Amino acid sequence: MSDTKTNGRIDVDPVAFADRLLIWYDRHRRAMPWRALPGEAPDPYRVWLSEIMLQQTNVATVVPYFTRFVERWPTVADLAGADLDEVLTAWAGLGYYVRAHSLHKCAQVVAAGRNGGFPVDPAALMTLPGIGPYSAAAIAAIAFGQRAAAVDGNVERVIARVYAVEDPLPGVKARLAALAGDLVPAGRSGDYAQALMDLGATVCTPRNPACTICPLVPWCRGCRQGCAADLPRRAVKAPRPIRHGIAFWIMRRDGAVLLRRRPGEGLLRGMMEIPSTPWRDTAWALEEAALEAPLPLTWRSLPGVVRHPFTHFHLELTLATAKAGVRADVRGVWVPLAKLEEHALPSVMRKVVSHALHRAY
Ligand code: ADE
Repeated sequence: MSDTKTNGRIDVDPVAFADRLLIWYDRHRRAMPWRALPGEAPDPYRVWLSEIMLQQTNVATVVPYFTRFVERWPTVADLAGADLDEVLTAWAGLGYYVRAHSLHKCAQVVAAGRNGGFPVDPAALMTLPGIGPYSAAAIAAIAFGQRAAAVDGNVERVIARVYAVEDPLPGVKARLAALAGDLVPAGRSGDYAQALMDLGATVCTPRNPACTICPLVPWCRGCRQGCAADLPRRAVKAPRPIRHGIAFWIMRRDGAVLLRRRPGEGLLRGMMEIPSTPWRDTAWALEEAALEAPLPLTWRSLPGVVRHPFTHFHLELTLATAKAGVRADVRGVWVPLAKLEEHALPSVMRKVVSHALHRAY
């Protein structure tokens, strides 16, 4: 038996567990542009950059963004010296722009620090902009070999299955993190962290875990009990509320469209946008919305709705369009259609542009 049950607690032998996982990783590790090759020292800048990007989305989406960033800004000092707007533009499409602001700020703090490098332990990493507990642990383990448990969704799933934890997320998060923490080995902690991530992404997958090829089967109670695929359980979520707004697609007679910058506070802060009404719980009538428009124009509603999920609500935007004279005086910038791509528009605003281009003419 690879584990013993004492007073309701299951003990997995951490040394055997990590050994088996690392043997698997040495054969099956996924190649990623931020990963050091075996025997090579990891570059903390690349590790940090990848972890911030991966907070956002999956590996396949991150790879081209990561490659472009390190080609353009090969060191943390280069990124610190970059123009914020250029960084935001390079980030466009990864979503959640607050992270791009923090990324730039973090690069500046690190580059200005005493040794121009990242701190090595999780607590110090967490004092930097944009680095939360998960990223701090991942960077400390992967870049600096610290014995830290990086517990993301993949790792939560693996641990919930190994220990057959039936309590639902998110309440059980702290317990899963504690169990994961007890298993981190003293050596090769960066490889161990990435091995768990890879196992979660390729073998211990959400719907159809491939238990027949899993190196952790000797310890996995979820597999033994036949409930692995059902774990981790999740508490039923309250539905996200819907907010409504009307976006103003204003075309000047010379073919330029009005963009403006959002305020420095709140959602999508500092990003460029197609101007819109405030987003609120009830739908807007066009006459009422017109009072919120940047210019007093004759508005026409476009058919259809742009839908976008934010963390705490779903947004539904309808579009109103109007023509403006070339002399229209308004806060914002007039951008020729062909140059819209050069602006770092958040995903929701890209949807608005695409909707307008398909419906307005
Ligand atoms: N997800 C977050 N960080 C990762 C990494 N270093 N490797 C694979 N998946 C990840």
